[in-house]
Amino acid sequence: MREPVFINQEEINQSKAAILRLQHALQDKNYRYFIESYGCQMNDHDSEKLAGMLEEAGCHKAAHKEEANLILFNTCCVREHAEKRVFGNIGALKKQKEADPSLCIAVCGCMMQQEAVAKRLYKRFPFVDIIFGTHELHRFPLLLEEALAGKRVFVHSDTDGEIAEGLPALRENPFSTNVIIMYGCDNFCTYCIVPYVRGRERSRNSQDILAEVEGLAKAGYKEITLLGQNVNSYKGDGGKMDFPTLLHRIHEVPGISRIRFMTSHPKDLSPGLIAAMASLPKVCNHIHLPVQSGSDRILQAMNRKYTRMDYLRLVEALRRQVQGIEITTDIIVGFPGEQEEDFLDTIRLVEEVGFSAAYTFMYSPRPGTLAAKMEGQIDEAVKKDRLFRLNQRIAQLLQESNQKYIGQQGEVLIEGCDGRGPEIMAFGKLPCFKMVYFPGDTSLIGQLRQVRITAAQSNSLLGELL
Ligand code: 5AD
Ligand code: SF4
Repeated sequence: MREPVFINQEEINQSKAAILRLQHALQDKNYRYFIESYGCQMNDHDSEKLAGMLEEAGCHKAAHKEEANLILFNTCCVREHAEKRVFGNIGALKKQKEADPSLCIAVCGCMMQQEAVAKRLYKRFPFVDIIFGTHELHRFPLLLEEALAGKRVFVHSDTDGEIAEGLPALRENPFSTNVIIMYGCDNFCTYCIVPYVRGRERSRNSQDILAEVEGLAKAGYKEITLLGQNVNSYKGDGGKMDFPTLLHRIHEVPGISRIRFMTSHPKDLSPGLIAAMASLPKVCNHIHLPVQSGSDRILQAMNRKYTRMDYLRLVEALRRQVQGIEITTDIIVGFPGEQEEDFLDTIRLVEEVGFSAAYTFMYSPRPGTLAAKMEGQIDEAVKKDRLFRLNQRIAQLLQESNQKYIGQQGEVLIEGCDGRGPEIMAFGKLPCFKMVYFPGDTSLIGQLRQVRITAAQSNSLLGELL
């Protein structure tokens, strides 16, 4: 990993000055914003930063798009489906903009980091006021200022991305939140667009991360999730700080009860990390470890740099050392060249591992990636059929494996309540990431409480409060 480039304080100060000017200009205007966020947790956190800047500028969140003065789309381009939805949803705003020409429409995120797509959007939707890529996030207040002055703004840069420290964030959840520890990805899995739009791997300095976690602990947060495309290759402080050591440091922060992290690449999952998970009680016994495929041939074509056997060995080591660990994963079906036999290898791997959740995707060709040009692209109907069969098998296996929880007791961090059924059910996760529903009310939200499991479904557990 290369040394990260930190955005100089001068540039951050310019953004902060723009926030103050916006505060002045928008005073008494009841300026409301609406952010539509697509994609992964990294993107959600970027949206929290955009909201943080807007709140500092004195704007307020609108309950509905229709009430907003500013609508901001934070896009994702990892799969084609998300891209189509963004184009559709922006197109649908034409009428609202015609009715209120002062409405400001902005589009940012990974999709806008692809220059050709950004230009296409710029041409197709002349009513969009601001377009900017992921690497320009910290400049948003300056761009908004220009748009409010009547300019149409398009910014795109091909830098590898830098690290901006010191921006405000408006965190959606008051007891559990995300902390980004590294940006970008160097792995170039052949199907994936992320390295092209998020740039090279770069890690935040540990003192910046620790200061953020300490601030969150003081603000009452109980659970933090450390985020990065590949947290296992975190190398902060000029390469001196690795991920297991960072976990030890964060573990010392008083007030934080639970530490989670994602995503882990199997090729970088070190014995040191497994040992840290085993020895640090606040580090939850859950790991998200995307396998992508159970076929060695396909794993190689995906450039994943591990074999099915390597993966199974990791699972074995994790299970042996980390008590009660649950493993979740990502799987792609229909990668170019995937034969029925390769697919059956994936099914067999799923049976062997016993994942506690799997996020499954049909392969979606992303322009610019190697796999998009590979021979042997799979028919959509075959992809759909494989996805269906895989999901069915996973649900069956989960229904069976979740039975082991019945009668067990555990601690949940209560996230919310669901009033759709005959009885109000509170819900929250065990440290192992299993979701538990139990009779309870909104007063419990944010608390860590003991529950006993009484029944098991494929996607969640049912329990009672102790
Ligand atoms: N097609 C389908 N799924 C993809 N993913 C990433 N790129 C693609 C693609 N082109 C999936 C991977 C990854 C998750 C975040 O999205 O499984 O782990
Ligand atoms: Fe994409 Fe692979 Fe990097 Fe994950 S590790 S972000 S799948 S290139």
